[in-house]
Amino acid sequence: MSKNVLVISTSLRKNSNSEQLATAFADGAREAGHNVVEISLRDKTLGFCRGCLACQKTLQCVIKDDANDIVEKMGKADMLVFATPIYYYEMCGQLKTLLDRANPLFPTDYNFREVYLLATAADEEANAVGGARKGMEGWVACFPKAQLKDVLFCGGVTGAREIEGNEALVRARLMGNS
Ligand SMILES: Cc1cc2nc3c(=O)[nH]c(=O)nc-3n(C[C@H](O)[C@H](O)[C@H](O)COP(=O)(O)O)c2cc1C
Repeated sequence: MSKNVLVISTSLRKNSNSEQLATAFADGAREAGHNVVEISLRDKTLGFCRGCLACQKTLQCVIKDDANDIVEKMGKADMLVFATPIYYYEMCGQLKTLLDRANPLFPTDYNFREVYLLATAADEEANAVGGARKGMEGWVACFPKAQLKDVLFCGGVTGAREIEGNEALVRARLMGNS
């Protein structure tokens, strides 16, 4: 069955490694016949959540910026895919800010059931993604109809474009296709 897949790339770097993982996943999902929308935060403006909780009643954020449209798309998608660079052994701040801004979805009948996390880091050790995984698990746990289906980590990539030719891109494509 064809699903609506939203792939969100959160690195602001040009020729980003994690964005290439996101693109490979999106390509695989399209090959499988899914409807895929790709978003990059590079050209977006997202303010920090102010914690006012107005959104829990109004289902709208009091901040008017690009997060609102992205969050609306998140709520309507069947599958969410987040790509992040590892910053200080955690997800990057841009992704954390987006997850916080998705708080208007908390009291809603959101659609998404599957969440994927894609991450890159300079460190080659598999546990370099542990902090980001834990953060994403915490967010997904607050949306009990959804589950974190898989985490794909590619270590050993520091410079922009360094991921080119890496077998992780094949794994990302297969993950999107499965
Ligand atoms: C602020 C900052 C913090 C970083 N922290 C880590 C880190 O804790 N561990 C690590 O292995 N790499 C770290 N890196 C390297 C990036 O994770 C790595 O270059 C990654 O491939 C960047 O992905 P991108 O090209 O998608 O932005 C850091 C990079 C920056 C800019």
